[in-house]
Amino acid sequence: MRLSSGAALPLVALLYALTGYAEPPPRQPAQPPADLPPGVSPALWKLVVPASAAPTPEKVALGQKLFNDKRLSVDDTVSCATCHDENFGFSDGKPVSEGVKGQKVTRNSPTVLNAMFNASQFWDGRASTLEDQAKLPILNPREMGMPDEAAVVAKVKAIPEYQAEFRKVFNRDVNYDDLAAAIGAFERTLYSGNARFDRFIQGDSKALTDSERRGWALFNGKGRCNTCHAGNAVNPLFSDQKFHNIGIAAHKQDFVKMAREALKIVRTGDEKQIDELALETDFSELGRFLVTKQENDIGAFKTPTLRNIGITGPYMHDGSLATLWDVMDHYNKGGVSNPYLDGGMQRLGLTEPEIDDLVAFLYTLTDERFTKLNQKFLTQQRARKNQRPERDTAVAMGKKGNLGDLAPNPDLNVKNPAELGVYGTELSVKPAPAKKP
Ligand code: HEC
Ligand code: HEC
Repeated sequence: MRLSSGAALPLVALLYALTGYAEPPPRQPAQPPADLPPGVSPALWKLVVPASAAPTPEKVALGQKLFNDKRLSVDDTVSCATCHDENFGFSDGKPVSEGVKGQKVTRNSPTVLNAMFNASQFWDGRASTLEDQAKLPILNPREMGMPDEAAVVAKVKAIPEYQAEFRKVFNRDVNYDDLAAAIGAFERTLYSGNARFDRFIQGDSKALTDSERRGWALFNGKGRCNTCHAGNAVNPLFSDQKFHNIGIAAHKQDFVKMAREALKIVRTGDEKQIDELALETDFSELGRFLVTKQENDIGAFKTPTLRNIGITGPYMHDGSLATLWDVMDHYNKGGVSNPYLDGGMQRLGLTEPEIDDLVAFLYTLTDERFTKLNQKFLTQQRARKNQRPERDTAVAMGKKGNLGDLAPNPDLNVKNPAELGVYGTELSVKPAPAKKP
């Protein structure tokens, strides 16, 4: 219960005095760190960090330790960092993640960088906060495999250094909420917004090569990427934070039948059940539908961030696309048709040099602290550039299937690079209306 009336306050103070706990500091808004990178606005930071979740240095240190500690798993083999590894941009480099006893889950590990800015967590948004999210993998049988919250608390409590540290940070015994709060605090230090692109958008037009600049124009023009992945000064993620069916799940499944079966068993609001269905069963492919039970959410997944995209492959919720060239092939042919395909998915008519430009642009979104890693992955992906299982040039170029209109590119000859795209402004290039079939 929250005591808010002024008269109640002295009573609270008395309680603290009697119990010997230190009185918590007054709730002031958390202050953004002085060294926020150019791509992360202080206003946004303030918006997403509630006073109660201020990442104090002690809490962050505890959270970082927990994030990296394999003892949070049932057999001491898996930590959060196993699947969110700094050497893979805080993802794991695998198509789908592997948890305890080598068990695979059904989904690809997203980066935790900038997860603090997500409007919801997971590919289907089934957790609303970092804290809610952190509680789930520890208990998921295929991820960290702990039987229940009490078992986690008992295990952590039995480690003397944790017992002392929890007491220092939270003034009380280890409990599951505080554990999640510490991890959340650490994750609130994993912001990332210092990419070459950020220098470009702040006016250094030489920060990008000609090819990368053409890629940015295509991103906002013919490629139509900005309809879902728009970036702007207060949303650094390049994501609309919404859910779309872009036809990835359609590679495999008979959705409609599956959705009917799922409706019978999904208990709305039961996060743990949905977590297990999402990570351990074929229902995974239903995506957002598992959370909302809305038909138009069938096969829809959250638009992911594109920051650090060069180092966080393989791509998509199921890790089915190996390189950014494969991603471009998927979009170029208008996705994979299915009854719930998003209306924004149309053939793009991109030529091979245009695809190269767009990929080059995507590689400029990696934080400069990962420059070496970025170069390594770019070289690896480029080496696979001629293996293109998703490519369908006839459809992309309108020689087969639905023609659709192509979107125009914005003019590259502007003084302010930001004017090329939607950065900080409204959509400048409206997608052409879809043709009726
Ligand atoms: C076995 C691998 C594995 C482990 C261990 C694991 N994760 Fe994840 N993580 C994933 C996968 C896979 C997803 C995506 C699942 C989904 O969306 O259904 C995910 C999603 C997330 C997300 C959501 C990101 C987004 O953009 O939506 C966050 C945050 C996260 N994990 C943090 C953690 C933390 C904190 C821990 C430790 C308590 C942890 N993870 C342990 C694999 C793992
Ligand atoms: C209709 C909305 C929409 C449009 C248009 C769109 N995307 Fe996406 N994008 C998504 C969604 C949703 C996903 C995740 C889909 C899934 O996993 O099933 C995604 C995934 C991606 C991924 C994989 C991210 C990861 O972490 O695995 C990349 C890269 C990407 N998009 C780039 C682009 C580019 C480049 C364009 C333009 C050519 C584009 N997108 C156009 C919505 C869109």
